[in-house]
Amino acid sequence: MIDIHSHVLHGLDDGPASLEQSLELARLAVQEGISTIIATPHHRKGSYYNPAQTVETAVSLLQEQLVRHQIPLTICSGQEIHTHPQWLDDLYANQLLTLNGSSYILIEFPSSKLPERVEEIFHELSIRHLTAVIAHPERNKEIAEQPDKLLKLIEYGALAQVTSHSITGYFGPQVRSVALELCRRNLIHFIASDAHDAVRRPFHLQRAYGIVTEKLGGDYVKYYQHNAESLLKDRSFEIWRPVRQVRRSFFFTQLPRFFRRNRSL
Ligand SMILES: [Fe+2]
Repeated sequence: MIDIHSHVLHGLDDGPASLEQSLELARLAVQEGISTIIATPHHRKGSYYNPAQTVETAVSLLQEQLVRHQIPLTICSGQEIHTHPQWLDDLYANQLLTLNGSSYILIEFPSSKLPERVEEIFHELSIRHLTAVIAHPERNKEIAEQPDKLLKLIEYGALAQVTSHSITGYFGPQVRSVALELCRRNLIHFIASDAHDAVRRPFHLQRAYGIVTEKLGGDYVKYYQHNAESLLKDRSFEIWRPVRQVRRSFFFTQLPRFFRRNRSL
């Protein structure tokens, strides 16, 4: 399995605090059947500042340690780029990393709302032939309340990644329900762990894929795994057509109200 979003590098963000913790996380990944992880430390979120060179150096150091400790896991570079006002400056200054050097780039929105002028983000990325992968949209309040807002971003050319722990219920039943609904509506293109540590938030990719198989069917799992592999190899892939919300017609929504009103007269 391939994991396209994880916090496996130590000392850069709210992921592992030490090399030992990184190695523990890496061993867990191998136990779960993960062969390749894209390390995506937070960038421009709060005090976390991890420009391209910082991440690439940390990836090389961890890979060396994995070889030394005979842990058969490949680590690739990436970032989870918060939509900070300065993110465009970073883009122009070549401080941003795509996922494993591909044309896919991981973007994180604030949890409360969509960023202002979100279309500008997608426009700037498209100029550079980059495809945004929106990290965990199920945890964005505005999208959770109005999933059609995610549909609109996908129509702009973005892709979306749901987090395994949202599917397993770690973030509560509401997030779980939104996550599965976004999957069901084909608004999700990847499942990734967003792993932070070996205890509270390990990978749980297998568990999430198991739940998706049970709730939505095995084809969804094949789709997500194929997409992750394509992303890693910087290939394009076929996107499933989003399912639009079925709107109840005037007849069903307004007519009964009309009859109720008239009955009371
Ligand atoms: Fe993350």
